[in-house]
Amino acid sequence: MISKKDQLFNLSTNNTTYLFAITETGHLEHLYYGKKISSEGISHAALAEKRSLSIGTGTAYSSDNPTLFLGNLCLEYSSMGKGDCRESFVDIEYGRGMQTLDFVVKSFRIIPGKPRTFSGLPESYGDKSTCTTLEITLKESGLPIRLVLTYTTFEDSDVITRRSAIYNDSDRTITIRNLASLQLDLDGDGWNLVTFDGAWARERYMHERPLSPGIIINDSKTGVSSAEHNPCIFLTNEDGECIGTNLIYSGNHREVVETSPYGKIRLLTGINPSQFSWDLGPQDRFQSPEAILTFSPKALNGASQNFHHFVNNHIIRGEWKFRERPVLVNNWEATYFNFTEDKLISLAREASSLGAELFVLDDGWFGIRNDDTTSLGDWTVNPKKLPSGLGGLALEIHRMGMMFGLWVEPEMVSIESQLYKKHPDWMVAIPGRKPSVGRNQYLLDLTRSEVRDYLFKMLSDTWHLADVNYIKWDMNRTFSDLYSSNKEIKNHGEFLHRYVLGLYELLSRLTTAFPNVLFESCASGGNRFDLGMLCFMPQTWTSDNTDALCRLYIQEGTSCGYPLSTMGSHVSTSPNHQTLRKTDLEARFNVASFGVLGYELDLTKLNRQQKEAIRSQISFYKANRSLLQYGTFTRVKWANRGANHVVWAVASGDRSTLLVLFAQKLNQSNPGSDRLKIEAVDLNATYEVFPRQQKIDIRTFGDLVNRISPLAIAEGGLAQDTLSKALSFDSEVEHYRVSGELLANAGIKLNQQFGGTGYDGETRVLGDFGSRIYICKKID
Ligand code: GLA
Repeated sequence: MISKKDQLFNLSTNNTTYLFAITETGHLEHLYYGKKISSEGISHAALAEKRSLSIGTGTAYSSDNPTLFLGNLCLEYSSMGKGDCRESFVDIEYGRGMQTLDFVVKSFRIIPGKPRTFSGLPESYGDKSTCTTLEITLKESGLPIRLVLTYTTFEDSDVITRRSAIYNDSDRTITIRNLASLQLDLDGDGWNLVTFDGAWARERYMHERPLSPGIIINDSKTGVSSAEHNPCIFLTNEDGECIGTNLIYSGNHREVVETSPYGKIRLLTGINPSQFSWDLGPQDRFQSPEAILTFSPKALNGASQNFHHFVNNHIIRGEWKFRERPVLVNNWEATYFNFTEDKLISLAREASSLGAELFVLDDGWFGIRNDDTTSLGDWTVNPKKLPSGLGGLALEIHRMGMMFGLWVEPEMVSIESQLYKKHPDWMVAIPGRKPSVGRNQYLLDLTRSEVRDYLFKMLSDTWHLADVNYIKWDMNRTFSDLYSSNKEIKNHGEFLHRYVLGLYELLSRLTTAFPNVLFESCASGGNRFDLGMLCFMPQTWTSDNTDALCRLYIQEGTSCGYPLSTMGSHVSTSPNHQTLRKTDLEARFNVASFGVLGYELDLTKLNRQQKEAIRSQISFYKANRSLLQYGTFTRVKWANRGANHVVWAVASGDRSTLLVLFAQKLNQSNPGSDRLKIEAVDLNATYEVFPRQQKIDIRTFGDLVNRISPLAIAEGGLAQDTLSKALSFDSEVEHYRVSGELLANAGIKLNQQFGGTGYDGETRVLGDFGSRIYICKKID
């Protein structure tokens, strides 16, 4: 809902209110963002900044307004040169380096639903029943330039989106040096900033720090949204309030969080002004990506649930929206580049017999690619590896009753490729300089339409041929040596944004041409996990790191901004290929099941015990997958906040079923008791609570098995190995019938963990990195 009364704009969602007003000078003063206040109770006078006195050394707006200091107002947008010296929302160079700007309100309109953007950028969607839009046009007081601010309220998600646009009504070119998507100015109420940072194989670990005077920047200058700093950030405070923002964009982004000398907080998000400048010709216009904003009084869990609702309802689109995602098997870590058709077929047979629904052929099927030095760009099958072609392989897979998926990395080119020989200038490199390199590969210039046309044709021909049901779209290096021979580009400050626009155009054509295909985005794992990619591809490969311990941090961090339905999570082998850590197969599954499940290990090498375990994992996952992909997710004890026992819960909408992960980072000797306390239940209901039955590898006990074995079994010996293939222990039996109130308020004291004093059918054997999934089912 959006309304305007006198000078005050009121943007409300089901549970939040956002208020701002037009000042006597035509600027927009932000008044409030938080829990809902009914419109009758709102007083502009009570919320406005008091300004009867001037501020020492402050610059007043004008001699007519001697106590109006833009530098100490909460504003909806800001610019330089009129007394507000905080980081600014918009920065335009319009002649001989001049940058002073002063935009004032000219008009506004309230539109049911949401008008489409003109920018070529992906955006959220909704109709008149779910959203309302407010468009405010501001005019520069001395120049023919307009700034348009657009707000859309999504009532059902408690989300407000924002974007901005510049219109050059003059007859001269102006240069946009910065245009943010969103500005939120707040009073400093003891806010902490939460960011999601990392690198390859350790994406989106969560970091929290209190704000103090000065500026914190969370950004990417890599050309992609990056594993280094995700565009999703939160502000949290001790009262349990939480504000979150994210950006629907896959390129360089910047979030500025500034604490002013007067204790006000300014949050800006948008395209990173670093390496960006945009020449806007006469009568031309430029639009920013859309940013999203939420508030919750229920801390980070509440704000992230709002984001989950928003992403599932207003970002993910097409055939796979709210559709249960298939359990996949991917050959990458099973074979790397070294596979034959026979090997793939035998992997697929195993996959199908264990219950998998989708077989994915990863890197190495095209050109002459036997390692990562060649062939990117040549998207035709390697007949030596696949004599029956992609079509033949796909047919076999389909005959097994599975879907067929294929890996591609279209944005790249290898020097050793047919494509490079033919079109060396399609590669991003500066003429006359040796370009920098990542993973032996280079970027294709997606700003050029002929490059996109080539890729569209090449890819769509191959995908038709292979009758694909799924595409993994990878991107394994970041940008360097920015240059384009594209004649349209006069100013290379435009290159990165034009690349992103080119990518989106290509994705839009391909996803339209293949509406039934499930797309999964990937960038060396999660180097481009963002809302822009999710507008085209409903899931993302979260990280190349599938270690069960690391995944507690990675998935938990990622889940703050993105729902479980978007997070690809695979069970891989042990020791893990990224960390060499040994973890239990069941523990790997327990963590991976909180997301879109897959397996990525050599299934043909598994013993009977392991196959049985996987078969029952997959059938458990299928039985519960609507919950594990679309349920309401709450972090009860956070891996990222230092808990040794990590607890996550996912609940069905009616709270009739909950699945609770109880994961242990490190085993304690002689441990105390563990409690399962879950607030997200129906307080008036009665629940049955019990753990998913899992297998305990007898090797867990080392030579302690000799206590019960008639034969001597040496640790690491042949007998132990042989025995473990045929035999395993069942996990503990534990079963309760309790009220929702008990579960929420008191919690259940769980069976004792193994503590070195004995073992029986009730002992919880978790060990290091071990876990259980508890099932809470409402009894009628
Ligand atoms: C990237 C991906 C992996 C795999 C390899 C193939 O690293 O993240 O999952 O596809 O590329 O080269």
